[in-house]
Amino acid sequence: MARILSGIQPSGTLHIGNYFAMMKPMIGYQKEHELFCFIVNYHAMTSMQDGDDLRKNTIEAALDFLALGLDPDRAYFWVQSDVPEVTELSWILSCYTSLGLLERSHSYKDKVAKGIVPNAGLFTYPILMAADILLYKSQIIPVGRDQKQHVEITRDIAERFNGMYGEIFVIPEPLISEDISVIPGTDGQKMSKSYGNTINIFETEKELKSKVMKIVTDSTPVADPKDPEKCNVFAIYRLFADREKTAAMKEKYLKGGTGYGEVKKELYPMIWEFFRPYREKREELRKDIGEVVNILKKGAEKTRKIAVMTLDEVKHAVGLVYH
Ligand code: TRP
Repeated sequence: MARILSGIQPSGTLHIGNYFAMMKPMIGYQKEHELFCFIVNYHAMTSMQDGDDLRKNTIEAALDFLALGLDPDRAYFWVQSDVPEVTELSWILSCYTSLGLLERSHSYKDKVAKGIVPNAGLFTYPILMAADILLYKSQIIPVGRDQKQHVEITRDIAERFNGMYGEIFVIPEPLISEDISVIPGTDGQKMSKSYGNTINIFETEKELKSKVMKIVTDSTPVADPKDPEKCNVFAIYRLFADREKTAAMKEKYLKGGTGYGEVKKELYPMIWEFFRPYREKREELRKDIGEVVNILKKGAEKTRKIAVMTLDEVKHAVGLVYH
């Protein structure tokens, strides 16, 4: 049993790429591992500066996770800012982090290159993330490829700190989800909110249908054989179909006589049905937001007990406890 932790940005609507690459495996971990899963609203502030949006997206993200099966009794599930100890640790760590380490952050450099005028929070983002990870002595951090360097920065900070004060922090390992790159969006590029090519988990049936029908394909005539491995529709189809259905569809492609339109018409009801129980659960939860808030507050209380212990150790080590 390992301690697994990952933070999720409350950045709006989740898509099926997020589901298969991140939410589904994360939620799967709660059975056999100690899962720490939280909504990173402090991090979101580095780019989201509308209070109403942040509030709304935080609740939406909580609804998503709970609807998709995250069990708050098994896992630790909370909103980052409800355990404010993390900011205290973040400050302490910032005094043990060299500027050069942060200056080498690809994610930061990419954002600046894109023309974003960075605030100081964006620059120190990796320190807050290190605090998230180290505060709970997490062992495994499932993240996308783009976040790998952040986990490496965390390791650097922790190793340096431990070198000075003893084995206080656990050195975490990143666990990279590879499959996100193989889930194409409606335009055939990797599915991503920033490309505007997503199929969302919770959208109306009409929107879902129109997005599926829009998935880009080549122009092979209906009668001709087609290569399923090169088809965006098939790449999504196989996520929702069982093994038999996938094999049967593969055969149809190779044989010819099946048009892409036909496959799409079969696909969108499959997606709709796949998420039906989650959608119903989400609607149920939405009826009582007060209860959702309760769940989050209880989650924070449980998590905080661990946070306080680590922070206390750190404060003793660095000399902030002076009596
Ligand atoms: N930076 C991560 C992202 O953008 C979110 C995050 C914040 C995180 N704190 C974390 C991920 C701790 C893993 C562990 O996706």
